[in-house]
Amino acid sequence: MIDSSSFIPFQHPIQVSKEETLQRASAFYETLNGRRTVRDYSTQSVDRAVIEKCLLAASTAPSGAHKQPWHFTVVSDPKIKRQIREGAEKEEREFYAGKASEEWLDALKPFGTNEEKPFLETAPYLIGIFSRNYDLLEDGSRSKNYYVSESVGIAAGMLIAALHQCGLSTLTHTPSPMGFLNEVMDRPSHERAVILLVVGYPSEDAIVPVLKRKDLEEFSTFL
Ligand SMILES: Cc1cc2nc3c(=O)[nH]c(=O)nc-3n(C[C@H](O)[C@H](O)[C@H](O)COP(=O)(O)O)c2cc1C
Repeated sequence: MIDSSSFIPFQHPIQVSKEETLQRASAFYETLNGRRTVRDYSTQSVDRAVIEKCLLAASTAPSGAHKQPWHFTVVSDPKIKRQIREGAEKEEREFYAGKASEEWLDALKPFGTNEEKPFLETAPYLIGIFSRNYDLLEDGSRSKNYYVSESVGIAAGMLIAALHQCGLSTLTHTPSPMGFLNEVMDRPSHERAVILLVVGYPSEDAIVPVLKRKDLEEFSTFL
């Protein structure tokens, strides 16, 4: 039985004609199609208020049972960025020196990546995105979360899109393993770092690898 006092009427805040619907769909696609993962950053600063608004945008993501099983740790302190770079480069040295399979290293070749991660110090912000399989309540008990990786993945995607449409670039960085981020970012052990998002403006000489995105027919089916 639905308790009607717990529900409110809803009308979509965007009400547009059919033509405008397609225009908006096209414009949004064009906006997102201009996003590229950037690995060369300028030191140009970004207002904290911009990051805060983009985090609020990410936090509107749907989540399993509305558990919002995410935490974002925003780092701009150069000392902490240095520690993160040291931790990431340590893991990445081992990754490139043998931990990764030949197949994986081959797949990474087009991106020209290696164990050097200078962007972890040049970019103005590093955002640690953490997931929680459960929340710890004040009395010490656990409250389970549901569809955690799906929910956090959606929130991360919305954060990337929000930052992009502000003119900022990102790198979805996943140094493997990422356990060191709990210590450096002072997060509890029931949280798991899933993405280290690098945020800032591309450097003037930034380059990105040529890549082609799949055509609609390749990745979708209409029944
Ligand atoms: C889950 C995930 C993990 C990634 N990890 C890394 C990474 O550790 N280092 C890196 O340089 N790029 C990383 N990338 C970026 C991808 O290489 C990049 O998104 C892909 O090549 C497509 O390029 P585009 O983002 O410019 O469209 C990652 C992307 C995703 C979604």
